[in-house]
Amino acid sequence: MNFRSHVLGCGGYLPERIVTNDELAKTLDTTDAWIRQRTGIRQRHVAADGELTSDLAVRAAERALAAAGLNGWDIDLLVLATATPDNTFPATATKVQARIGMTGGAAFDLQAVCSGFIYALAVADSFLRTGQAKRALVIGAETFSRILDWSDRGTCVLFGDGAGALVLEARPTNGHAGNSARPNMERGVLSTHLHSDGSNYGLLYVDGGPSLNGRAGHLRMEGKEIFRLAVERLAAVVDEALAANGLNGTDIDWLVPHQANKRIIDAMGRRLGLPAAKVVVTIDRHANTSAASVPLALAEATADGRIKPGHLVLMEAMGGGLTWGAGLVRW
Ligand code: ACO
Repeated sequence: MNFRSHVLGCGGYLPERIVTNDELAKTLDTTDAWIRQRTGIRQRHVAADGELTSDLAVRAAERALAAAGLNGWDIDLLVLATATPDNTFPATATKVQARIGMTGGAAFDLQAVCSGFIYALAVADSFLRTGQAKRALVIGAETFSRILDWSDRGTCVLFGDGAGALVLEARPTNGHAGNSARPNMERGVLSTHLHSDGSNYGLLYVDGGPSLNGRAGHLRMEGKEIFRLAVERLAAVVDEALAANGLNGTDIDWLVPHQANKRIIDAMGRRLGLPAAKVVVTIDRHANTSAASVPLALAEATADGRIKPGHLVLMEAMGGGLTWGAGLVRW
């Protein structure tokens, strides 16, 4: 039997504390105008002392489960995308598993930095399609505030903390397998497309690690080059996703992009021929929450009624590695 992964619900969580650009400008050589103009960011949420990635993940997961009408024990696969785990090990996913009352199945972390949610979606979709799991919780959760160099204006203004989660369920298809070569109106994950290029490892990294030097370290980034590669590679993977499903840019109801820079988001919308109203934007309020940015945007756009059952949703992201990917979902 062929299965497809149906979306049952999603949820998001942002820490209470908001830090505005003006607040950052008190201690950094920067301005609200520069940050808004170059990135589209107005503010970001920052986790409280003692508030961990697992805490954000649990809150988002509980909201997603409530939206799906399910409990933790209904889930048999939990994939948590994060580059900022609570501990080096065990996987933060196992802590979340216990706290949401998920009593069986498997829970693990996945690391693809800002592309983490798309990677986690692809992994969960594969488990569900092949019958290895029935219901999956896919979470993106980050506390990037803990790995920022708060004296580096080129990076610290760009990121925020948060979490988002999606509940998926395996349901039999109406007869044809996924990744079909023709337009498919059936609901569920149509296809996912993952890429990485380790030759660009040094463009975006953290200068610490358990094996490297035993420290958590700070984020370092060649912003200009990442920007150039993001526009190029995201365009290619979006084309790949549409072609795999026999679809055009204009078939898309909602573009839900990774929120790294408003100029990158605008470039993708223009390339797909989408009006700005069909692009879900949260970067102004959330900044870049890495693996949490796409599920947080999904949670917002489903809660306010923009994304409706039957809509075609295109997600894309690029992050450290480099890693990048796209996913097409009929909601
Ligand atoms: N405030 C004021 N000036 C600043 C700031 C700031 N916060 N940051 C940098 N500047 C200065 C620079 O020092 C530079 O000054 P100089 O000309 O005197 O040397 C000038 O502004 C221009 O700097 P650029 O880096 O060239 O600015 P750019 O327009 O490229 O914008 C930015 C920088 C916002 C980082 C952009 O390159 C970007 O968004 N890159 C992509 C980021 C991204 O997509 N990351 C991927 C995902 S993240 C992940 O995976 C974890």
